[in-house]
Amino acid sequence: MTDKNFPLKGFGSVALHAGHTQDPMYSHITPIYASSTFVYDEAEQGMRRFSGEEEGYIYSRWGNPNFSEAEKKIAALETFGLKDENSHDLQLKAILHSSGMAALTTLMMGNLKKGDKVLSHYSLYSGLEELITKILPQFGVEAVIADLRDLNKAEEAIKANPEIKLMHLETPANPTLQCVDIEALTKLAKANNILVSVDNTFATPYLQQPFRYGVDYVFHSTTKFLNGHGTAIGGVLVGKDLEKMNSSITKTHRILGGNSNPFDAFLLTQGIKTLELRMDRHCLNAMEVAKFLADHPAVEKVNYNGLESHPDYKIAKKQMKHPGAMMSFELKKGKQGGIDFMNKLKMCIRTVSLGTAETILCHPASMTHYAIPKEEKDKYGITDGLIRLSVGLENIQDILNDFEQALR
Ligand SMILES: Cc1ncc(COP(=O)(O)O)c(C=O)c1O
Repeated sequence: MTDKNFPLKGFGSVALHAGHTQDPMYSHITPIYASSTFVYDEAEQGMRRFSGEEEGYIYSRWGNPNFSEAEKKIAALETFGLKDENSHDLQLKAILHSSGMAALTTLMMGNLKKGDKVLSHYSLYSGLEELITKILPQFGVEAVIADLRDLNKAEEAIKANPEIKLMHLETPANPTLQCVDIEALTKLAKANNILVSVDNTFATPYLQQPFRYGVDYVFHSTTKFLNGHGTAIGGVLVGKDLEKMNSSITKTHRILGGNSNPFDAFLLTQGIKTLELRMDRHCLNAMEVAKFLADHPAVEKVNYNGLESHPDYKIAKKQMKHPGAMMSFELKKGKQGGIDFMNKLKMCIRTVSLGTAETILCHPASMTHYAIPKEEKDKYGITDGLIRLSVGLENIQDILNDFEQALR
């Protein structure tokens, strides 16, 4: 619980205490409110809740105390230390969803209509790529994909497509770890009346706060570092236009029905509490692993924003507190070398997803990015030999020992 008269100074303290309300039964940890509906003392109270005259829960597709706790925590972390144009604490609203894809669907359907276009970079989570290039066109919304690391190309795309209403940035991007300049692109978008959303899944609010640069939305697959333990799928959409968030975006979310559930929201809340501690350790380990891989004779290439050899090293340094715990790499022996390496691992785990406490690895070309045509994957650097790595919280020596023996 936070107290107005005792503003918390540390990110870790906010992660622990924000969003918590005193439980009526005095339970320390918010219990799991496994209830589809909430009752009224009298019929009139139900009417007041429906009309918005009285705050309170109605139906768990619309809201639930477990969702609220996680939503308030995430909003507090995304806005931590940030001020609005009047030097007041920046206010944000977060809406929890059943998955990252559900939150991205609310973002797109809540902001775009027939005839509009969405601009994005080519290195993107494959589910979003499919949503904007295959599903949304069925409803008259088109995608424009450009190399947004090049501001001239971004400007050209905007000039050629006045229908662009939303610019969606994923930085660092999955799985190439490419970064785009949030500040410069937001300036360009604002000059052209375009909304900006940022997928902050890889970075988390601890390492990167896109609202600092005036973006309109931040999105997370909470399945990843925010949950941190691989125990629940989830997504969140955070917005700064409170009026819109409370009206049309809430409406879109409720009608599409991509609500979270109390158990997953409970797990997410427990995970967020240790975000700062976990990220510090994830990042320390990742830097060691990246250096180890970059120096290893069997490794052809390492994509890690913390290495000066990465083309987006400077952008990452500008907008991230630390380059994070995600990387990808290729072995000199290509795809077969990668398969052999993954099969020899004794501790690190072969699985998709990312941001778990354990170190996990996957092969994007045949797994997460399977649905993208091979020519496109090759063009965008998602080669057959690429391995994506999410560095976990184990003791660093065990991670390095496992890699060393698997690379032998
Ligand atoms: C960067 C990124 N954005 C969005 C998503 C989609 O999230 P979810 O799987 O929770 O629906 C993912 C999933 O891997 C992701 O990595």
